[in-house]
Amino acid sequence: MSKRYHVTTFGCQMNEHDSERMKGMLESLGYTASERREDADLILFNTCSIREKADERFVAHLHDAKIVKRNNPGTVIGVGGCWAQSMKDLVFEQFPFVDVAFGPGQVPKLAEFLTSDSITAQGYFEFEGFPAHLPTKRDRPHQAWLQISVGCHMKCSYCIVPSTRGRHVSRPYDEIVEEARRLASEGVVEITLLGQNVNAYGRDLRPQRREFSELLREVGSIPGMKRVRYTSPHPQDIKQDVVDVHAELDTICEHVHLPLQAGSSKILKAMRRTYDRERFIDRVAMIRAGIPDVALSTDIIVGFPGETEEDFQETLEVCELVQFDSAFTFIFSPRRHTEAAEFTEGLVPHDVKVERMQRLVEVIQRNAHERAQRFVGRTMEVLIEGPSRTDPSRLRGRTSHNKAVNFEGFGEPGTFTHVGITGATSQTLTGNQSLVDLALAR
Ligand code: SAH
Ligand code: SF4
Ligand code: F3S
Repeated sequence: MSKRYHVTTFGCQMNEHDSERMKGMLESLGYTASERREDADLILFNTCSIREKADERFVAHLHDAKIVKRNNPGTVIGVGGCWAQSMKDLVFEQFPFVDVAFGPGQVPKLAEFLTSDSITAQGYFEFEGFPAHLPTKRDRPHQAWLQISVGCHMKCSYCIVPSTRGRHVSRPYDEIVEEARRLASEGVVEITLLGQNVNAYGRDLRPQRREFSELLREVGSIPGMKRVRYTSPHPQDIKQDVVDVHAELDTICEHVHLPLQAGSSKILKAMRRTYDRERFIDRVAMIRAGIPDVALSTDIIVGFPGETEEDFQETLEVCELVQFDSAFTFIFSPRRHTEAAEFTEGLVPHDVKVERMQRLVEVIQRNAHERAQRFVGRTMEVLIEGPSRTDPSRLRGRTSHNKAVNFEGFGEPGTFTHVGITGATSQTLTGNQSLVDLALAR
């Protein structure tokens, strides 16, 4: 019988995508997927370390795996991703039952380990730029991630990512376009370009420098590619040329994720975000001028060291002014190997952080709810993803604005339909399939 693997993924889309590559690689080695961790010969974790909570969650899982291995000593335990990278000196010491550990750039080394006769624990933590092509195994045949760069060249003082993913390296332009074409020919209709700061794409390429907007235009013009998304742009670097591509091509989704982090210029400076409050507001105005119906989402951190009540109120003010369609909100978490973890002044007590978080979420939800009302009464194009999570008799899909829609109707995952929107909360839209599409689907 073939060997079986079980992968648990934590963290961002980069990790989701790396896990697809791990799975693809394992299947090319003859492994098959196991539903349950207990039945796997290889238990693999793709880890995240962005906040302390992420570490805690993962370590609890790792202890479960240890128990599986105790009952079945032949089990191989592998740990990849950002936590592994940031713990490279300690992982085998603190978790001696781990057999192989590797950083985000070292997925191919997993295959080397598994096909070698090695019985001692191995760690692989080099940064090697762009890994060679790996087969991927996607959960959704019609949607794909496409990585355009590795690493990050920014120095945000709170962030562990530059130390876990290494320096920024752009993937060769032609390679990305070729992969996008191949994906389209395989039936992928929606693609998300991935990078920590997508606007920095191409500036390091030689002999020919490239711009992100060029790449966006080219990928968005591939026949059959119906929707193109990207994440994340950086408020410092997003420029008119990117907005122009949105305006030019219907395939570029009407959604921009623009991480604010804080609304106070003083805190932004301490975060080393390289833009201030005015610049952020100006970028939003530029985006809205070019893409009037755009949905804007963001990331915000509360309780950064030195954040006073006045600073926090500035964050609330920017949120009220910009009116985000959605936001991910986080409590500042000091991370190893980061500058902000060493800050000792103006530390915000935990209860104040929690209280600020609650106030922020209230503002975010109210704005998101108000913004979403503009969709009610409209008929929107929806990419069907499958049955609704809350009510399996209904379907769930997504609009170009990245809004989830639950609706009555028929249709296969991966196909487009039109939905008349009848209701909107801060999170989701509801509606009914258009009669024409309903007749066609039945
Ligand atoms: N490269 C992306 C962000 C990746 S991390 C970008 O710059 O847009 C995703 C989000 O996690 C960040 O935007 C930030 O809001 C949050 N985050 C990162 N480090 C954090 C920390 N130490 N504490 C709390 N939130 C953090
Ligand atoms: Fe982290 Fe800043 Fe890089 Fe984003 S841009 S990954 S927040 S260092
Ligand atoms: Fe992503 Fe977490 Fe690493 S958010 S880049 S997996 S630290």
